[in-house]
Amino acid sequence: MKPLKLLSLFILISGSVCAQNLMVKDLTCEHKINPTGIDIIQPRLSWKIAGSGNNILQTAYSVRVATDPKFSSSKIIWESGKVASDESSLQIYRGPALKSSQRYFWQVKVWDNNGRSTKWSETAFWEMGLLSPSEWKARWIELEDDTNRYSPSPHFRKEFTVSKPVARATAYVTAHGLYDLSVNGKRVGDQVMTPGWTTYGKRIQYQVYDVTDQIVKGENAVGAFLGDGWYRGTLAWGNNWAIYGKRLGLLMQLRIIHTDGTETLILTDESWKGHNDPAIRMNDIYNGYTYDATKRLTGWSQPDYDDSGWKKVRIGNYRDNLVASEGSPIRKIEEIKPVKVFRSPKGSLLVDMGQNMVGWIRLKASGPRGTVIKVRHAEVLDKFGEFYTENLRAAKVQLTLTLAGTGEEILEPRFTFMGFRYLEVTGFPGTLTTDNITGIVVHSDMQKSGTYESSNPLLNQLQHNIVWGQKGNFLDVPTDCPQRDERLGWTGDAQAFCRTAAFNYNVAPFFTKWLKDVALDQKPGGEVPDVIPDVLNKQDATTAQPSAGWGDVAVITPWTMYTVYGDKQLLENQYPSMKKWVEYIRKKAGDTYLWKGGSKYGDWLFYHPPVNSHTAADGYTEPDFIATAYFAYSTSLLAEAARVLGKTDDVKTYTDLYNKIKEVFIREYVTPAGRVGTCSQTSYILALKFGLLPDGLRDEAAAFLVNDIRSRRNHLSTGFLGTIYICHELTRAGYTDVAYDLLLQETYPSWLYPVKMGATTIWERWDGQKTDSTFQDAGMNSFNHYAYGAIGDWMYRVSAGLETRDPGYRHLLLRPHPTKKLEYSKATYEGPYGTIASGWERKDGKIIVNVKIPANSDATIILPVNDPAKIRQNGLPLPDVKDDIIIAEETNESINIGLVRGSGEYTFEFDEQN
Ligand code: BGC
Repeated sequence: MKPLKLLSLFILISGSVCAQNLMVKDLTCEHKINPTGIDIIQPRLSWKIAGSGNNILQTAYSVRVATDPKFSSSKIIWESGKVASDESSLQIYRGPALKSSQRYFWQVKVWDNNGRSTKWSETAFWEMGLLSPSEWKARWIELEDDTNRYSPSPHFRKEFTVSKPVARATAYVTAHGLYDLSVNGKRVGDQVMTPGWTTYGKRIQYQVYDVTDQIVKGENAVGAFLGDGWYRGTLAWGNNWAIYGKRLGLLMQLRIIHTDGTETLILTDESWKGHNDPAIRMNDIYNGYTYDATKRLTGWSQPDYDDSGWKKVRIGNYRDNLVASEGSPIRKIEEIKPVKVFRSPKGSLLVDMGQNMVGWIRLKASGPRGTVIKVRHAEVLDKFGEFYTENLRAAKVQLTLTLAGTGEEILEPRFTFMGFRYLEVTGFPGTLTTDNITGIVVHSDMQKSGTYESSNPLLNQLQHNIVWGQKGNFLDVPTDCPQRDERLGWTGDAQAFCRTAAFNYNVAPFFTKWLKDVALDQKPGGEVPDVIPDVLNKQDATTAQPSAGWGDVAVITPWTMYTVYGDKQLLENQYPSMKKWVEYIRKKAGDTYLWKGGSKYGDWLFYHPPVNSHTAADGYTEPDFIATAYFAYSTSLLAEAARVLGKTDDVKTYTDLYNKIKEVFIREYVTPAGRVGTCSQTSYILALKFGLLPDGLRDEAAAFLVNDIRSRRNHLSTGFLGTIYICHELTRAGYTDVAYDLLLQETYPSWLYPVKMGATTIWERWDGQKTDSTFQDAGMNSFNHYAYGAIGDWMYRVSAGLETRDPGYRHLLLRPHPTKKLEYSKATYEGPYGTIASGWERKDGKIIVNVKIPANSDATIILPVNDPAKIRQNGLPLPDVKDDIIIAEETNESINIGLVRGSGEYTFEFDEQN
C-alpha cells in the first residue's frame, strides 16, 4: 500500500470516531462579531470550522435566520437549505428584505468531506440601523450662543415618562462635533470620540445603542454633552478651526418598544433644554482640555433636576447624509501604569509611562478647592533629560484641571487625545506617585489577528513598535501621527502600511469605512487629495493637486484588502474610484505615457548623508520617475481588479496601457546595462516591484541594488516609498540574505537603530533622534509614525513564511526563510478560515518548520531542502515522496521542495543547507 493511501485511511478512521468533534465557530457578519446598527441590505456571513483530524473541507452548509433567538418556526425568516458549497467566508444573505432596527439571529451548520456534520452553531446576530432617511424623526438641536472657538461644552437634556413596561429601547445618535450620551445618569455604551470622523460634508456616522436596561418605569431623563472634535476644533495647520462648521449639534432618537408592541419615540426637538457647561471650559483635539471641577454639574442627566436656568434649544435644519458606523468602534482598549515619577535635571516634575502611547490619562488627586493642576505631554526627553515638546509644533496638548476640593477626585479628559510617553505635571497638591496616574490607551477596537516573534529581542521590540504605531494611529482614520498639529488621514502612509496593519489586527471594517471616504473625497477629475477626510482643500473645492504614491491609495489599498480578505464586494465598491484615479493620471500623461510633475513628495524622507561625511550619493529618487512608476503600478492593479470582477474590456484596456507605460518607462529610465533612474535603492526597488524592467535585466538591476546596499555597509537609503518593498524585492531576486542584513542592521539608517535608541513606537524619520541624542528638525519629527513599520509585512510573509497563494488566506503559501542570523522566526495569523501558523527554528544542525493550516483551507509548503527523502514530517519520513512533491525549485540561495497539505498541524525537519 502506498503511504498516501495510508494517510487517507487514517483520516477516515479518525473522522468517524470523532464525528462529534466537528464544529462551527467564530460567526461574523460583515467581518464583525454581532454588529449593531448596520445599513447593508444584504449582509455577508462568515464562519470557521474546527474538528479532529486533518484535511477537513466543508462540503455543504445551511444557514438559518430568525427574528427570535429561539428560532421558533414562526420567527424564522430565511433558511438557505443545504447548500453544496465549500464557501464559508462572506456568504450573502439571500432572504427577504431586512427591516430597519430589527435584530436578526442566525446559525449555521456544515457538512464535511469525512461525512460528518455539525448541529446548529451557537447563535450570532446582527441588527439593522435606520435604512431610510425618512425614519429620522429627530431634529438637530443646538445652542444659540455656541459659535466661538473653544466654547464651553454644550449640554442638552430632556425628561420623559415611561408608563408601560419596556421590551426594548434603542438609541440612535450622532453629532456635529463629538457627543457623550447618558440615560438616567449613566453613560450609554463604551465608545469614545463618537461619531468618529468621516468626510462630514458628505456623510456622518451614527451609533446605535441598546439602552433597555437603563430605562425605568416612571420618570426618566436623557442628557448629552458635546465636544468640538474634528468638526469644529483645531485641525490641519495654520490655526485652522471649524473646518466643517462653527456650531455643534446633537441628533438623537430613542425608540422604546413596549411589551404590548406599542412604541414611544423620544426625539431631539425644541422641547429639550440646553446649557453651556462652565466646567468643560475648553476641549480640542490638538490643544487639550480645560476642566473646572468647582463648576461641575451633577445630576443633570437624571430626572428631577432643576433646569430652570437652562435655555431653549435652537433647531438646526441640515440635510446630513447619515450612515451607519462601518468601521471598528473607538474604545478605551487598555490601561497602563507609569514606570516612574521623577525630577528632571532642571527640576520639572515628570512622569514616564514607559511606552509612547495614544489616548489620555486618568488623574487621581486630592487638594484644596481651586487647586489648578497642569499636565503637558511629550513623546521624548531631550539629551539633557528635559521635557521636549518642540516636535508637537503648534499643538498644546495640555490638561488644565481645577479641583473641587471634595476629597479624592478622579479626572479624565474627553474629546481629545494625546500621543505621549512623558508627562510634565505642575501644581499637583501633595506628592505625585505612579498611583496617581493611569494611561488609557484609545484606538479603533479592531480584533487582534497576528503575532510575530523571533529569537532576536531587538526584532521583537521592532514588532512591538510596529503594533504600537498602529494602535496610536488607527483612531477611526489611519493617521500619519497622533501628537502634533496634524493627525490626518495621510494617504501615502496608509497605503504603505495597510498590508502590515492587516497582519496585526483585523482591519477589514476599518478600511472598508475609510476607503468610502477616499472615494467620496476624490475630485470629479479623479484627483485623490493628500489626506482623507480632505481637510487641506476647501470643502467645496473641485480640484486638488495629488501626489504619486499618495493618491495611489485609491488603488493599492482596495487591492490589498482584497488580497488579504478575499472581499470582492469591497473591490467592486471601490472599482469606480480606482478607475477614476488611473484615468486622471492617464489624462495628465497623455501621449507621452510619462506622468511629469505628478510627485510632490518624492520618496518622502529618504536618507540624506550628513554634509561632507559620506562620499556615496544620497538616496534621492527623481520625482517624475516615481510618478510614472506608480502610474504603471496602479494601472496594473486596476487590470487585475478588472479581471477579478469580470470586466473584460477593462482588463484589455488597462493591460495595454500598462504595457505602453512600461515600454516608455524602460526607454526613459532604464539603461541597457540595467541601471535604473538615479540608481538609488528606491529606483531599483520600484522598477523591480512594478515589473518595469525588460525580463533580461531584472537580475542586473537587482545586482546593482545589492551593490548599493553592500557599498553602504548594509544600510537603507530609502524613504516612505522604497522602504515598503525593499526586502520583498531582495527576496524575489534571491537575496534574502541581504534583506536579513538590512533588517538586522543596528546602526543608522535602519529599522533597528531607533530600537537601539529606546524607541517604543516607529519613528517618522530614520534619525528622529541622532546618535548624540540631539533631534532632527522639530518641524517634521514625529516619534509615532507607522510608515516605516511596513517592514512588518516581510517579517510575517517572508521570514516566518506566512503567505497566501490566492487572495483571502484560504490557499496558503507557507514558505519560511531560515537564516543563520536568527535561531527562530515564527508567526500566527487569524485569517478568514482560522488560525494559521508558520515558522522555523534551527536546532543541532537541523531546521524545524512548524505550520498550522485551518480547516477548509490548504497550503503549499515550500521548504529549503534539496531532497524530499531528507524531510521528516511529524517525526516520520514523508508519506509519499513522489505524489506529494509539487515544486522543486532552485534559487541562488537554496533548493526548495514544495508539498501540498490540507488542514492540520505539521512539523517538518531536515538538515540545514549551507
Ligand atoms: C506627514 C506625512 C505625509 C507627508 C506628505 C507629512 O506632514 O506627516 O506622513 O505623508 O506630510 O509628504
